[in-house]
Amino acid sequence: MKIQAQWIEEWKKNLEPAMTEFLLSQELIEKDAPLSNKRFLARSIIPHVKKYQELFNRKGELAPDKNYWKKISDSPHFLTAYFLAYMPANLVRVASVLGELERLGFQFSTQSARVLELGAGPASAAAGWCEVSRLSPDFIPKTDTIALVEKDRKALELGAEWIRHITARSPYAPSVQTFHRTIDWARGLLPKTAPEFDVILTSYFLNESTESTEYIAEKLFYLLDDHLSPEGIWIGVEPALKAESRKLLEIRKHLIARILKTKSKLKILLPCLGHQSCGALEKAGDWCHEEVTWWRPPYLKAIDEMASIDRKSLPYSYLVIAKSDRERSKILPKTSHPKIARLVSPTHTEGSDLEFHLCDQTGKRKARWKTDNEIGRGDLISIQNERGDQTSRRIDKASVI
Ligand SMILES: C[S@@+](CC[C@H](N)C(=O)[O-])C[C@H]1O[C@@H](n2cnc3c(N)ncnc32)[C@H](O)[C@@H]1O
Repeated sequence: MKIQAQWIEEWKKNLEPAMTEFLLSQELIEKDAPLSNKRFLARSIIPHVKKYQELFNRKGELAPDKNYWKKISDSPHFLTAYFLAYMPANLVRVASVLGELERLGFQFSTQSARVLELGAGPASAAAGWCEVSRLSPDFIPKTDTIALVEKDRKALELGAEWIRHITARSPYAPSVQTFHRTIDWARGLLPKTAPEFDVILTSYFLNESTESTEYIAEKLFYLLDDHLSPEGIWIGVEPALKAESRKLLEIRKHLIARILKTKSKLKILLPCLGHQSCGALEKAGDWCHEEVTWWRPPYLKAIDEMASIDRKSLPYSYLVIAKSDRERSKILPKTSHPKIARLVSPTHTEGSDLEFHLCDQTGKRKARWKTDNEIGRGDLISIQNERGDQTSRRIDKASVI
């Protein structure tokens, strides 16, 4: 997935200073010590990052220890460690999905957006929204409200303050509302009386539920059908690991079944550009994920080195759903060409061709294309001429979107 180069340039200059200023204001770090101070990282941050890595990189389908935030009370640095090690990555992941929407011609229909993040932790996804709003004000409407729902009070308060911090200089600083509650899946993700939102964000949240994918899809369906405003969108970002990516693909499958059965206005927009059955679910060991290239703030590079994490790029799985009467090609005008396919693998060279996997309405297949275009995982191509069968495709003429 490509992300707007000017956003990355801006964050390269300003994100670490903004985070430092913020953590100082919260008295979570000491004055005159840069975030990349190795002694501070080694003593106060890395032990917690290692615990998080064990929790988040679990093998198999198990959701993490439900009470991991409780450890915060034992250690004041547990939350700072999450904020430093994971918040910027999830901020950039969510921003990259917004970047894809902008590139494909999506336009918000509201003048003033109400935004909700569920399972907000330190508001990483909401921060992604606010940052894109600052960097692309013509794309993102003025934000009226940011509502954060989170079961851990300290994480929630930190998230709310972080949003206030990054929007403080905006001429239209949003009102930040916090809801300290444990979402009870059986009762629905929001109370029936909750209002509608123009944008609902979840980031690394669905994977924390131990419920079946069918059950999660049912609850997500009601959340979006009841609480997205007309033309509103949900962006869901989840881990790229096989089990969790397949979990999201299964959720997508059950959502589509429900959407078709109820004739709901919900529509899958991205990454699949439609309601076709998932190409990756056809094979037991397959899955589907994205990857965004970024820079790493210097302190994060130091954390990654000390904790043996490789985050030169950011992998993730995602889904975007809109509530709209309009066809997908009208919502994303750049995708109106009848034959659009997405690269769902990296490319490699085979003779004078590039070889990769493509996914579209006809499923997921190997493809070859003789092209000078620099293409990679996540790119969309519109195909004018191709040959092939059910196993492989030869692209004769296509262009990159
Ligand atoms: C991995 S963190 C992600 C935080 C943030 N969205 C991000 O992208 O960095 C998942 C968050 O969801 C919260 N969470 C999980 N299940 C929840 C529930 N049932 N009710 C409220 N919060 C929940 C956790 O407390 C945690 O803060």
